[in-house]
Amino acid sequence: MKMMESKNKLLKVPFPNGGTFLYGIIGNPVKHSASPYMQTQAFHALGINAIYVPFEVKKENIKDAIKALKVLNVKGVNVTVPYKEEIIPYLDEIDEDAKIIGSINTIKIENEKAFGFNTDAPGFILALKEEGINVKGKNILILGAGGTSKALSYILLKEGVNKIFVLNRTFEKAKKIENHLKSYGNIEAFELSNENLKNFLPQVDIIINTTSLGLKKDDPPIFDYSLFSLNSNLVVVDVIYFETPFLRAAKKYNLKTVNGKGMLLYQGALAFEIWTSKKAPIEVMRKALNEILK
Ligand code: ATR
Repeated sequence: MKMMESKNKLLKVPFPNGGTFLYGIIGNPVKHSASPYMQTQAFHALGINAIYVPFEVKKENIKDAIKALKVLNVKGVNVTVPYKEEIIPYLDEIDEDAKIIGSINTIKIENEKAFGFNTDAPGFILALKEEGINVKGKNILILGAGGTSKALSYILLKEGVNKIFVLNRTFEKAKKIENHLKSYGNIEAFELSNENLKNFLPQVDIIINTTSLGLKKDDPPIFDYSLFSLNSNLVVVDVIYFETPFLRAAKKYNLKTVNGKGMLLYQGALAFEIWTSKKAPIEVMRKALNEILK
């Protein structure tokens, strides 16, 4: 078949070429990830000859994927759902914080060795700082007890919060986080109920949603949002990167709200810095993220 020849001129792109380095993201699915656009823009902005692409990997292939990254000289990847925990055994070295958290989202490859890091947790702290929120000495209520809850609980204790209340539908999972992290500070598990929220909301400075509720349109409310009336100084944070019903309800009570976009931005910026040892072009990355999430 005869190929159609374009009459258009070639686009002016400085790379890829023979010297281009490859980065990417491993997950399943990865189609909706904002990282390829955000990270490639960051490389371009600093004149680094690199591109960042999605790798949709099946569960049974994660071990081979790590081997492939090494032999193909890929320089680094992010790891997303559902592999942040189960990829750990296939890495050569894990950062100390990531080891305690038990999940990684960033891998750097050097001399055919894979090093794992968690930039979600410190990225969350940087995102709060940017909003003028300092967590030191604060009382924090965390909704949910999955991987994100564990990562944030650990980093918040490390940052010197006064106390963390972890509330979860399945109490045993919250208790597991309490037991895992109690040597790092004051953390206590409870069942997720309106009764408990009524008791704790007046005592806390910040409430953080790490449950998946709010991702889908028909999700039920996490709790009775009229309870927001109990604390007019509450800061309300969601790790989901758009305005969820949880955040919308908080706004109705004139509470300060923060969505997960900043966390997404800063986990990417910290990963970029691990890979390149250069300061991440944060405003370029923010612009790219806003553009792609529009
Ligand atoms: P991640 O790794 O992103 O933290 P996860 O491990 O899947 O995600 O955890 C999801 C969290 O959302 C859990 O705390 C889960 O509660 P359970 O441990 O009881 O399953 C919470 N969650 C999901 N659907 C929920 C619902 N309908 N009501 C309350 N909590 C819910």
